[in-house]
Amino acid sequence: MMLEMNRTPRGNSIRNLMTVAALASALSGCSEGKEPAAPDDAFVAEAEALTARFQSELQEALSNAMAETGPVSAISVCQATAPAIAQNLSLESGFSVGRIARRNRNPGGSISGDFEPLYAQLEATPTEDGVPAAVHARLGDRQVYMRAIPMQEQPCAACHGTNIAPEVKAAIDGAYPEDLATGFEPGELRGAFLVEMSTSTEE
Ligand code: HEC
Repeated sequence: MMLEMNRTPRGNSIRNLMTVAALASALSGCSEGKEPAAPDDAFVAEAEALTARFQSELQEALSNAMAETGPVSAISVCQATAPAIAQNLSLESGFSVGRIARRNRNPGGSISGDFEPLYAQLEATPTEDGVPAAVHARLGDRQVYMRAIPMQEQPCAACHGTNIAPEVKAAIDGAYPEDLATGFEPGELRGAFLVEMSTSTEE
């Protein structure tokens, strides 16, 4: 229910959009008179599709690596593949696509202050009706979509769980000396996909 509050009806979101756009241009002194961005619904639909692709592409690479070479080698696959998929989807869509987490492994994925309330919502309710929860909002001149990545036993626990094999732990510590992303229980929020669209730079 709480998450539903963000899903404003189309009419409202267009009104909000115009208010926010007017406010943003007043504040920034922007006089270009750009059209307001596409309605929320279109952004949300595209962001949903992007995060679904991120998840399935990464899952495929991860499960292949786990099956073929085991968790120690799969760490370097994750290290190379996750940022590459994010970059690819960002270039393709023109949005900024990535993953964030409060207790992160990749220090580039920390939660900036203005995302905190959205992330906290996902932390409180990582799944809704059995599927990962999603929230979206307008923050200044940006549209933001965030989708929960809940912790699972398989295969996640091997690298993010409470009982990680010593050789896996050593490989993680070697690649990520500041790692915070262990000790998770299934069902907890492990992190989130983040899609951002800056309406001021949108063409
Ligand atoms: C083989 C070890 C391994 C397994 C198994 C694994 N991960 Fe990760 N995970 C990593 C590594 C390494 C990174 C850092 C990738 C990078 O550098 O961007 C990472 C990063 C993440 C991130 C991004 C935020 C952060 O902490 O940097 C999330 C979210 C995440 N993993 C969730 C999961 C989930 C959910 C599963 C199970 C479906 C899973 N991982 C399984 C190794 C693993």
